[in-house]
Amino acid sequence: MEAQKYKRYTITAALPYANGPKHIGHLAGAYIPADLYVRYLRLKRRDVVFVCGSDEHGTAIANQAMKEGTTPRAIIDKYHELIKYCFNKLNISFNIYHRTSEPLHHETAQEFFKILNDKGDFEERESEQYFDEQAGVFLADRYIVGTCPVCSNDNAYGDQCEKCGSSLSPEELIDPRSTLSGNKPVLKPTKHWYLPLNKYESWLREWILEGHAADWKTNVYGQCKSWIDGGLHPRAVTRDLDWGIKVPVEGADGKVLYVWFDAPIGYISATKQWALDNGQDWKSYWQDQETKLVHFIGKDNIVFHCIVFPAMLKAHGEFILPENVPANEFMNLEGDKMSTSRGWSIEMHEYLEDFPNRVDELRYYLTAIAPETSDSEFTWKDYQARVNNELVAILGNLVNRVMILMHKFFEGKIETTGAAITLTDANLKAELDRLYDELEQSFESYKFRQAQQTAMEIARLGNRYLTEQEPWKTIKTNPEGAREALHNCLVLMGHIATCIQPFMPGTAQKILNMLNWSGDTVYFDEELVFENGHQLNAASLLFEKLEDEVIERQVQKLIAKKAALETAVEEAAPNLVPAKSNISYEQFAAMDIRTGTILTAEKVAKTKKLLKLTIDTGLDQRTVVSGIAEYFEPETVIGKQVSILVNLEPREIKGILSQGMILMAENAEGKLTFVSPGEGMHNGSVVR
Ligand code: 2FM
Ligand code: ZN
Repeated sequence: MEAQKYKRYTITAALPYANGPKHIGHLAGAYIPADLYVRYLRLKRRDVVFVCGSDEHGTAIANQAMKEGTTPRAIIDKYHELIKYCFNKLNISFNIYHRTSEPLHHETAQEFFKILNDKGDFEERESEQYFDEQAGVFLADRYIVGTCPVCSNDNAYGDQCEKCGSSLSPEELIDPRSTLSGNKPVLKPTKHWYLPLNKYESWLREWILEGHAADWKTNVYGQCKSWIDGGLHPRAVTRDLDWGIKVPVEGADGKVLYVWFDAPIGYISATKQWALDNGQDWKSYWQDQETKLVHFIGKDNIVFHCIVFPAMLKAHGEFILPENVPANEFMNLEGDKMSTSRGWSIEMHEYLEDFPNRVDELRYYLTAIAPETSDSEFTWKDYQARVNNELVAILGNLVNRVMILMHKFFEGKIETTGAAITLTDANLKAELDRLYDELEQSFESYKFRQAQQTAMEIARLGNRYLTEQEPWKTIKTNPEGAREALHNCLVLMGHIATCIQPFMPGTAQKILNMLNWSGDTVYFDEELVFENGHQLNAASLLFEKLEDEVIERQVQKLIAKKAALETAVEEAAPNLVPAKSNISYEQFAAMDIRTGTILTAEKVAKTKKLLKLTIDTGLDQRTVVSGIAEYFEPETVIGKQVSILVNLEPREIKGILSQGMILMAENAEGKLTFVSPGEGMHNGSVVR
């Protein structure tokens, strides 16, 4: 093994937004790998701090508050607790799970900003941004809707059109409206602070592209390279928002730090809080070259952790930089992308509710299919197969057989001529040494799937050995040989408890309990010592088989959840079109709406959408051009009684003078129906 280069380790896992529950894809992406690495380091007796916490600012939180009709504070309090509870139940062994809403974090982030600002590291720039005059606020991109310039969807967001997927900027929207008031926003100048990433380009090139070509994962390195090669530009680190950390300089009223500026500083403030609580010095974990800093994240966070945050740390000048950022790809679920909002997900709390006693099974499976090099796929069937064929059949089976046989033949008692038992089989010993080396190498290079397989190899080795030795047979002819074989298996079980501890801490503990070992950790440099006379505890099952019905129920539950959500979205669909601002009664009364009957209908030549209609309005017979041809065949609308706005200024459409407008109801999918009087009314009746 390479000589230990570092004195201590600072390990971070991405701060999850406290805007909703987190799913098992998040777990597999960042939290499990980080926990595996940390537990490994601790087993090597390294000095580690493992920090995380809730990311509680930004539009993600504000949007959720709007959706749930409550305040951002209520949102973060609710979800922070839920997320923290789940991590704890899943045995993610953070030293601290902090919050970015804590005053200590606000101070830390503001101080960081001030230091950069005082050094002149920011560029201040004025730009024009949409402002809602009625609400009196600048509008974040998500708060502006309008017509998509690409597909004409008239509910496209300022950052993206969800219909055609185009990514947009608010200025590109046709007829923009504020979702707060429904009014047309106005462009207004506003000042922001920019981190000039362009100035760090050559340094980043040297540090990452030259310095980390060999040790960073190819997916991470590749993303960094394409960002840097694409040219870096100044990035605004402030926003006009009221939810967030106030920008700590004069003349910045109504402005907060951009959430991606404050969130990574959250790692530092979490460490500070942990140090305060534990009599430690936070600086040695962040400002000492002998500390190794590693960020565990999902692939969507690469640019912030490899480019933006390091540039901030570099600008500050007193901090160490991440030594590695082993980001994972995504984990899909049963053939589709995992998504909480679409209902296609297994949320951490849902799993815990259904399988409170199967935490290690989940940790094991998520590690076995970890998306380390490419996207991977969770399926309930595969989960079942891994539990039954690997955990039950290999690990559980070995432990169970050894314990049962020890009790059956030797009353669970170690008896040996020496002071204690040791591995007496040279092959076993050599194999075990090799597996330990392989295990460490895999951990050191962040290959946790491989590491777990290697740990399981020890159990496979034990099973093979036991099958060869057949102590259940030799007990009759050579009882001392049978005893020795079982003793060797017990020693292996001790090593298994050590090596699987990062992956399945609960199972490791169960094995130690059966072995009647009082401690809860066996370090890598330690060996369980079974002295003469040592009494084992009773055998108990490590894992239970997963039956088909249990798995089938989960698949059904997933499908039902998605369907329920789709119905709910449909029911809530009218809300998708934001409310317009108030008008006066006079404005309403100025509209002359009448009932009328469609007399003739024909398609307008060379158009897809338009129908030319003749309508008896009671007042007259007139022509109206209506954009409903995609929804109605001409012959099906003749004779329909409709409502028509008769005093709309006539306008020419495709060379035809259209005099009025037919009222239609349109749902979120764009389905149209006529707004007709419920029972027959003579044409010309007033609608009011
Ligand atoms: O993508 C996210 O969920 C962010 N909340 C991650 C933040 S990581 C760090 F910078 F805090
Ligand atoms: Zn579009």
